[in-house]
Amino acid sequence: MEIKSKPVRPEGKLGVLTPGMGAVATTFIAGVEAIRKGQAEPIGSLTQMGTIRLGKRTENRIPKIKDFIPLAELEDIIFGGWDIFEDNVYEAALKAGVLHRETLDGIKPFLEGIKPMKAVFDQKYVKKLSGTWVKKGKSWFDLAQQLQNDMVEFKKRNGCARLVVVWCASTEIFIQPSAVHMSLESFEKGLKENDPMIAPSMVYAYAALSQGIPFANGAPNLTVDIPALMELAQKNNVPLAGKDFKTGQTLMKTILAPGLKARLIGLNGWFSTNILGNRDGEVLDDPESFKTKEESKLSVLEYILQPRLYPQLYDRFYHKVRINYYPPRGDNKEGWDNLDIFGWLGYPMQIKIDFLCRDSILAAPIVLDLALFMDLGARLGFKGIQEWLSFYFKSPMHAPGLYPEHDLFIQLMKLKNTLRYIQGEDLITHLGQEYYD
Ligand SMILES: NC(=O)c1ccc[n+]([C@@H]2O[C@H](COP(=O)([O-])OP(=O)(O)OC[C@H]3O[C@@H](n4cnc5c(N)ncnc54)[C@H](O)[C@@H]3O)[C@@H](O)[C@H]2O)c1
Repeated sequence: MEIKSKPVRPEGKLGVLTPGMGAVATTFIAGVEAIRKGQAEPIGSLTQMGTIRLGKRTENRIPKIKDFIPLAELEDIIFGGWDIFEDNVYEAALKAGVLHRETLDGIKPFLEGIKPMKAVFDQKYVKKLSGTWVKKGKSWFDLAQQLQNDMVEFKKRNGCARLVVVWCASTEIFIQPSAVHMSLESFEKGLKENDPMIAPSMVYAYAALSQGIPFANGAPNLTVDIPALMELAQKNNVPLAGKDFKTGQTLMKTILAPGLKARLIGLNGWFSTNILGNRDGEVLDDPESFKTKEESKLSVLEYILQPRLYPQLYDRFYHKVRINYYPPRGDNKEGWDNLDIFGWLGYPMQIKIDFLCRDSILAAPIVLDLALFMDLGARLGFKGIQEWLSFYFKSPMHAPGLYPEHDLFIQLMKLKNTLRYIQGEDLITHLGQEYYD
């Protein structure tokens, strides 16, 4: 990552486009507008509330991140997106059932004014949904061009200087990288020939990256995690990031597991189960979509606990993750974790967690931070995978040959050190003299 010059305050509007305008996207949009109106605080957003220590501790320089790094202002964000249902953001937010009607009614005209564009969709990839607000096209390539046209038109219509795309649509079925994904050439051929291994999310990503628009993937789908689209990002100097917003149970795992490892406490088993009743839960009720999510959730512990380095502690732990669709809960998920751990002389202990969580409340500030940081990255000429944004993902994309970093605290240090680096400040290693001077 090379910094040619320090970032300057961006000028003009930033369009944030979300494929998918369901629970997460509408909670994000309504939240930003409520904050802009002074009706709420940006709780959970590192870009808005987080601070960053600079220099030695004795210097007492701890600005807010947003005062340290010139990010787009909330006032300059314009929202847009696509969905397979025609509902405007007010109607979609009411159906999603995350935010109370009173919160939404306070900003109703604004939310009603945001209407989704027609989606690129194929039910083969999301079995549980059947949409009505869907584009028609001769091929994936044709559909990609229609999306590109949407982006160009949106930018023009709203007078935006820059765009970013954050995938907030449903989880697609599990697919593995195959020949068509291996190079840009084979991928573009596949787009024209309607290759069945190309998923709709890839068509959105292709459309964005082709135009130099950053793309972040909030779902566990393969999407941009394929050589073809990484090649496109390199070619066009565009940042990309993914995958799967780190919320709920996995967030808890990446908070707890580093603590257990730090204290060399062993693990025999970690059983996680959830009930949730939103549309995401319904989509994940399909085994093929669940498999995509399961892969994303399972890898976390393996990487944090490093069984190969600590065989006596983590060689044999049993890890199970279940998601149960239970409509009465709506978006208010309940997640139970049972941890069988062991300590000194192998004596067993247990930890039980009952997390009454609101997934979209945890996800919305992630969408905001990703949009602002991806825009920053694009302005600085960062291209390809943005590993410094691993903090936000359950299954962080990483350079080939490297392993992903899952530990929330290492991820945060990496993110903040990247910001220090961007502004030419010393990196903080928490080592050395500052303890003594
Ligand atoms: N809620 C969370 O905290 C959380 C955490 C991590 C990841 N995610 C992921 O984020 C995504 C969104 O979650 P959600 O809770 O908002 O789900 P949701 O079901 O409420 O919203 C998804 C929306 O995407 C739309 N959609 C599906 N396919 C589409 C396509 N091809 N193009 C455009 N729109 C499409 C659906 O109609 C729906 O409105 C899911 O993939 C979910 O797994 C959510």
